[in-house]
Amino acid sequence: MRIAGTGSMLPKKVITNDMLSQFLDTSDEWIRTRTGVVSRHVISDERLEDMAIEAARRALADAEMTADELDFIICSNVVNEYVTPQLSCIIQGGIGATCPCIDINCACAGFIYALEIAESFYQAGRVRNVLIVSAEEPTRMTDWKDRRTCVLFGDGAGAAVLTPGDNIRSIKLSASSATDKLWQYRLLHPTPYITKEEVDMPLQMKGQDVFKFAVKAAGKDISRALKDVGIKADDVSHYLLHQANIRIINAIQEYLEQPAEKFPTNIEDHGNSSSSCCPILLDECNRSGLLKRGDMVAMSAFGAGFVSGAVLFEW
Ligand code: UT7
Repeated sequence: MRIAGTGSMLPKKVITNDMLSQFLDTSDEWIRTRTGVVSRHVISDERLEDMAIEAARRALADAEMTADELDFIICSNVVNEYVTPQLSCIIQGGIGATCPCIDINCACAGFIYALEIAESFYQAGRVRNVLIVSAEEPTRMTDWKDRRTCVLFGDGAGAAVLTPGDNIRSIKLSASSATDKLWQYRLLHPTPYITKEEVDMPLQMKGQDVFKFAVKAAGKDISRALKDVGIKADDVSHYLLHQANIRIINAIQEYLEQPAEKFPTNIEDHGNSSSSCCPILLDECNRSGLLKRGDMVAMSAFGAGFVSGAVLFEW
């Protein structure tokens, strides 16, 4: 398969570090130097599904395709306002598609997991055109009194349209269960039979553990993909990494011994939008003209689970 079109959509409200420091014991200096985030887009009166639908429409327009040409939709999402139906089905109706659709929750690595699922469909000869949409509102998961988590995140949706081709060179996925590093419990409705203790809590994170996992996992996943294709890190033109922390990106850059120019970022004004980071960054690099036909691109993401993955594709 190949990526034929990209799209993205961000909420209109922009929150700067200085705005956060008005109600949190934090500072622009701390957030900027420890994370690289300067501002982030957060959902206010928008609905996530509308942003996902708009990102999908933009990707379809970029691919010069109509929704009725789609054979499958995969939506990557961690939380949204609906428990059911699935977000992909809401997007399907919103863009006017009629194909089957599925949601996956693979945390921040969801876009790369979705690419792997799509690639399997292509290899089985079951699809021609596939839409992937990552839509995330992590700002609805964090405790806005917890300076260790809420300063990191932003919301948004990113999408990609896939068509037949041989541009995806390698996808490598990993998972290693670690449920006490990055997790959130939610309270389900009670029944007369529930006797276990249950809690409702915002996102919990052991930041340094996640940091170490991220650097190790991304380095390993990208190296495995490079080896699979038989190319070197030098042969990759652009590294589009999950935008969780600029220090994580810098550490991966040092591990790969590659120049900083190969690592475009948008963490400065987006923060971490979970699985939407990769497709939003891809869309921005596509629309700015950074990606040139024939460029080798590496994309890598990691998140709760832990799960991680890397993909190598030719633009
Ligand atoms: O998609 C995956 C999601 N998550 C990640 O990728 C997160 C990975 N981890 C990280 O990015 C970093 O670990 C953080 C940015 C979360 C934290 O940075 P750190 O350099 O690991 O800081 P720390 O947790 O070691 O905290 C250092 C100090 C602590 O104070 P004390 O105990 O030394 O007095 C924190 O309480 O910084 C304090 N601190 C803050 N201070 C001001 C933590 N958050 C803040 C804050 N403002 N927002």
